[in-house]
Amino acid sequence: MSQIRDQWGSRLGFILAASGSAIGLGNLWKFPYITWANNGGAFVLVYLICIAAVGLPIMMAEILIGRSTQKSPVGAMRAVAGPAWSWVGGLGVLTGFVILGYYTVIAGWALRYFAQCVRWSLSDFSPEASSGDAFGAFAGNGVVQAALVLAFMCATVFVVHRGVGRGIERVSRVLMPILFLILIVLLLRALTLDGAGRAVGFIFRPNFADLEPLGVLEALGHSFFTLSLGMGAMITYGSYLRRSESVVRASGLVVLLDTLIALVATTIMFSVIFSVPGLEDEISGSTVGMLFIALPGLFYQEVPLGALLAPLFYLLVCFAALTSTISLLEVVSSYFIDQRNWKRSSAVLSCGAATLVLSLLCALSFGANGILTEFSLIFRGTPNAKLGLFDHLDYLASNWFLPIGGFFITLVCGWVVSRKLSEGELVDETTPSWFHYGIWRFCVRYLAPVAVAAIIIAVLLGLDFSKPLADG
Ligand code: PFF
Repeated sequence: MSQIRDQWGSRLGFILAASGSAIGLGNLWKFPYITWANNGGAFVLVYLICIAAVGLPIMMAEILIGRSTQKSPVGAMRAVAGPAWSWVGGLGVLTGFVILGYYTVIAGWALRYFAQCVRWSLSDFSPEASSGDAFGAFAGNGVVQAALVLAFMCATVFVVHRGVGRGIERVSRVLMPILFLILIVLLLRALTLDGAGRAVGFIFRPNFADLEPLGVLEALGHSFFTLSLGMGAMITYGSYLRRSESVVRASGLVVLLDTLIALVATTIMFSVIFSVPGLEDEISGSTVGMLFIALPGLFYQEVPLGALLAPLFYLLVCFAALTSTISLLEVVSSYFIDQRNWKRSSAVLSCGAATLVLSLLCALSFGANGILTEFSLIFRGTPNAKLGLFDHLDYLASNWFLPIGGFFITLVCGWVVSRKLSEGELVDETTPSWFHYGIWRFCVRYLAPVAVAAIIIAVLLGLDFSKPLADG
């Protein structure tokens, strides 16, 4: 049975949806934190090189595979490389399920902090309610955690259920411009704070003596997560892209937007943090500390107009997370729609329900349930032995699934897909002049596989280079 495939209504629609997928907690949360943990400057430079030399070429590879096959990852890998490769697409679907499972927990936290900030702005800010202890009590409250995850999952299901054009594209068209606007307001404010100069210096002045070798792998691993690569999200979104659009230009814009937003978010956060003496030491040990414990107090106590900016900031985090969870659910559901001929509504509802079960378990792994909180299957006997289900899933997805998926997607695109096909997809009269097919092909055939193999080898050797997403 062949159905007419959904398509993005316009080039802008695709760009906003794909950058919506890319821009998320990875940019607003993980990137500032790992930049902090890796001492700034040199790490940021290495990250930018990884994005340009590995992320951008793989982004083009994924979008071209999707667009040329008009299929989601499993069907797309089968179509370009044969049935023996469809497992790579299957791994992508599994990865989407796993990431969506834990990502909604943090998205739910952002939702709660948005509501909390609205309340604080309307009445008075209470320092006790934003302390580390208060956060611990909140994270360990099973009922509240479950309700937040449920709310976020319902919003995601609602959008994806409406389809590509009427759901994902329409929501991205509204949310992404608001998100850019909020960030600009926050940036303008942050740049006038006392700590802004130090923040900019910390982020943009490289000092290679500060960079540990494993930081390079962390930068590379993060470029996969932040660009939504390695699990076929961009194959799926590319499969709805019209033939008349340039894959190269679209990829370039999405990568540029994602990178800009990560840098802007980091500048905002560090300007706020550096503006308060002594705060650096307090928050340096944890991702949760930075986003949910330190920032609210700073906004209300130190930043002029903070009562306006704080709710805006958490609204931004919610929007950014929603446009990413949408793409994760779309990858999982489109497998059942494309390969199993399920109706969109049944596929989205079933996948949403199945993921909700996983999300609920993750939501209870911050203290509400003892077994889930200290579930040490992978980290037994290591310093991380007490990490719960949430961290296990993040570790599996970020350190194993995304690099393995990315490795095989690049191999297929560089070595199995014919030169005629990839050149035909990437080069035409709409291709921007900065693009050189030969360089792209070199990156996809040699550079990217070797670089990603380094991550896989490091993980196999047990080298611990990545920080958990929610490190308390
Ligand atoms: N790119 C998202 C972020 O930076 O938060 C996370 C993500 C979304 C990863 C969608 C993978 C994906 F398919």
